[in-house]
Amino acid sequence: MSYSVTVILLSGPISVGKTLLAENLMTGYRADHLRTSALIAASTRHNADRTDLQDVGMSPPFRGGDWLVQAVRERVEKRGASLVVVDAVRTREQVQALRQGLPACRIAHIHLLAKAVLLAERFTSRERAGDAELSWHQAMEAPAEAGTESLKSEADLVLDTTLLTPEDVTVRVVSYIRPHGRHKPNVDVLVGGQWGSEGKGNVAFYLAPEYDLLVRVGAPNAGHKVRNRKGEVYTHRQLPSGTQATTSLVLLGPGAVIDVNILLREIKDCGLSPERLTIDRRALIIETEDVKREVDLKKAIGSTGTGGGAAVARRIMERTQATTVRMAQDIPELASYIGDSAELFDRLQENESVFVEGTQGTGLSVLHGSFPHVTSRDTTVGTLLGEIGIAPQLVRHVISVFRTYPIRVGGQSGPMGREITWETVAERSGIQLEDLLRSERGSVSHNQRRVAEFSWSQLVTSTRLNGATDIALTFADYLDVRNRRACRFDQLAEETARFVDDIEMVARVPVSFVSVGFDGRGPIDRRQW
Ligand code: IMP
Ligand code: MG
Repeated sequence: MSYSVTVILLSGPISVGKTLLAENLMTGYRADHLRTSALIAASTRHNADRTDLQDVGMSPPFRGGDWLVQAVRERVEKRGASLVVVDAVRTREQVQALRQGLPACRIAHIHLLAKAVLLAERFTSRERAGDAELSWHQAMEAPAEAGTESLKSEADLVLDTTLLTPEDVTVRVVSYIRPHGRHKPNVDVLVGGQWGSEGKGNVAFYLAPEYDLLVRVGAPNAGHKVRNRKGEVYTHRQLPSGTQATTSLVLLGPGAVIDVNILLREIKDCGLSPERLTIDRRALIIETEDVKREVDLKKAIGSTGTGGGAAVARRIMERTQATTVRMAQDIPELASYIGDSAELFDRLQENESVFVEGTQGTGLSVLHGSFPHVTSRDTTVGTLLGEIGIAPQLVRHVISVFRTYPIRVGGQSGPMGREITWETVAERSGIQLEDLLRSERGSVSHNQRRVAEFSWSQLVTSTRLNGATDIALTFADYLDVRNRRACRFDQLAEETARFVDDIEMVARVPVSFVSVGFDGRGPIDRRQW
């Protein structure tokens, strides 16, 4: 059995940090903070000081715990709290009453302590209204504090906070109340299997509503097209493609490489609030100079020339005091979105899931692609996870996206198997050549794309490099224009179904999605999960 509500009972001497802990649990873990002093104060006259409250608190109705049981129940029933922090319990009777009175809740009694000198110092350094005349030792002599020491022996967890930071205290408590399941796999990854432009945006948009957090890294050299809820075609350069599909949280991880203007425009277009979007403070900023430095690359290898590679090179070369490297945290316009990926992941609940959207394609990897016709990073899943800060064992599914006919951007963009022409694709599929030529332009470069036959060896290599568990086959209409009308798998052209069979036979993973067009309907979904 597992409890759906956890109640933390805090005990410990004055100034030990109970309230600070409760507040951290409140902001970081959505805890409901139940302040006993406020409850007692509510039942007494105005402007009572600590001594008055302590007196009232020790009077018969408050010595026991029934009032606390009632208060916790109210938080759970009326406000739907799943984590309540009682700040603080003072007597054994109270603890006992809470343990007996809330059988459906998990009770975690946590006792904080610290060296007396430290507590006395903290007490005087805090200007507490009403405590001005007292020393810590005097305050601790009050009858209300008499039981504090003895609560140590009955607590579930005792923490000596003398050597701990407030964050450490929070982490110790959180790891205690969530001993299991904090690291259960909850991540699915989408990755391009070819040379980019595989139609990842369309698949990501379709899947996004199933997740609580959408993550993207990479640079604005990638453009991911979606058809949003208004039916408009939108190209994402920095934000995850599912941003407009759902209201889940959005994260740009520390490996993101940002063009500030492009990102700000996209945030505005998508109406993203600081509550939804977190930009990791360490994400790298592209400078105007970086874009200039990539001009020659455009001609040489068909680079998009968006400056990401030059920025990354600077990050490596300029690890000096005089660095020109700026990170997201250095940009005033991004201030309200800045955060920390690690903290965000720490705070995800056990049942919350994450969708990672890779950019570009496996064949463009600086490590595994055809150097020098490659991009400025490794584009496979292993690196993708590292750029975000996700451990590999948290991954459940890796969906690798393949087009029926892979493309590379126009120009000197490197080898691509058996290259063909758009005429050939038009002839075979029955799609108008003009339509193909119009839509097959780079979403960033706007150049006419190159096209090739489906590469079976690339399928095998990419599937292995990424550990794909599923394949999304896109552009099924390029095999046969009639596939555009297919709403179900059994409505695909026979030859297309055979092609899917062949992919499964060669890759040894299921083709779980088949995309037949870009009308906003989403791919045919034949997942087994
Ligand atoms: P760069 O990363 O812009 O320097 O480009 C290096 C090579 O990768 C060039 O051939 C680019 O056109 C290609 N490339 C980079 N990103 C993408 C992408 O997202 N889709 C398709 N090609 C890309
Ligand atoms: Mg307190």
